[in-house]
Amino acid sequence: MTDYRAALFDLDGVIVDTAVHHFAAWRQTAAELGFSLADEDEELLKGVGRMDALRIVLGIGGVEVSEDEQQRLAAEKNARYVEAISTITPDEMLPGAREYLVSLRDRGVLTALGSASRNAPMILQRLEITDLFDAIIDGSVVSEAKPNPRVFLAGAEALGAAPADCVVFEDAIAGIQAAHAGGMIAVGIGEPEVLTEADVVIPGLHAAGSLSAQGIEFVGSR
Ligand code: G6P
Ligand code: MG
Repeated sequence: MTDYRAALFDLDGVIVDTAVHHFAAWRQTAAELGFSLADEDEELLKGVGRMDALRIVLGIGGVEVSEDEQQRLAAEKNARYVEAISTITPDEMLPGAREYLVSLRDRGVLTALGSASRNAPMILQRLEITDLFDAIIDGSVVSEAKPNPRVFLAGAEALGAAPADCVVFEDAIAGIQAAHAGGMIAVGIGEPEVLTEADVVIPGLHAAGSLSAQGIEFVGSR
């Protein structure tokens, strides 16, 4: 049994189901360019920063465009995404997410957000959970995309915690790799068949109560 002092959370797919809106917006980009994305492609785009995600989409279609056109396509995708999420409410948080964050904080466990999304602060505000994080590291603070560990290392640093004190909650393969590259344990949120590199996999934060039985225990240090 190991005791951890800090919990670092990805946003999309862990706290709120925005992944579906990201993918829908990329599908329109592909359609505009004359090809389509397969359902399996969604996994490749999770956790990856906006411009890197665009490059993945272009690669799938075998399409090459100028730097200016890349900027335009990314801006257009973001406008569609922002429009889609502009009406989200606290009710749309994934089951158990709010409750788990509150229970960790009640026990004095440090919490940080580590998301590649530049839209993260706006989403936290709309979900009314900004106050549940001691530190917020988003795509505008750190530009290196997961699987680069920078976003989580910056989160740990902001909390004053060592990587070995942190547990990362992630739904993306790239995010689990980022946690490991940073020397942190990774709890996968999703399917064990997909998140094969995670240390433990649970279906969602509603099931986080089972982590202590799997050797992951938090201690307060606030
Ligand atoms: C998250 C999502 C990715 C998305 C990235 C950038 O990590 O999982 O699918 O590409 O954020 O999001 P943004 O809102 O900045 O375009
Ligand atoms: Mg995610």
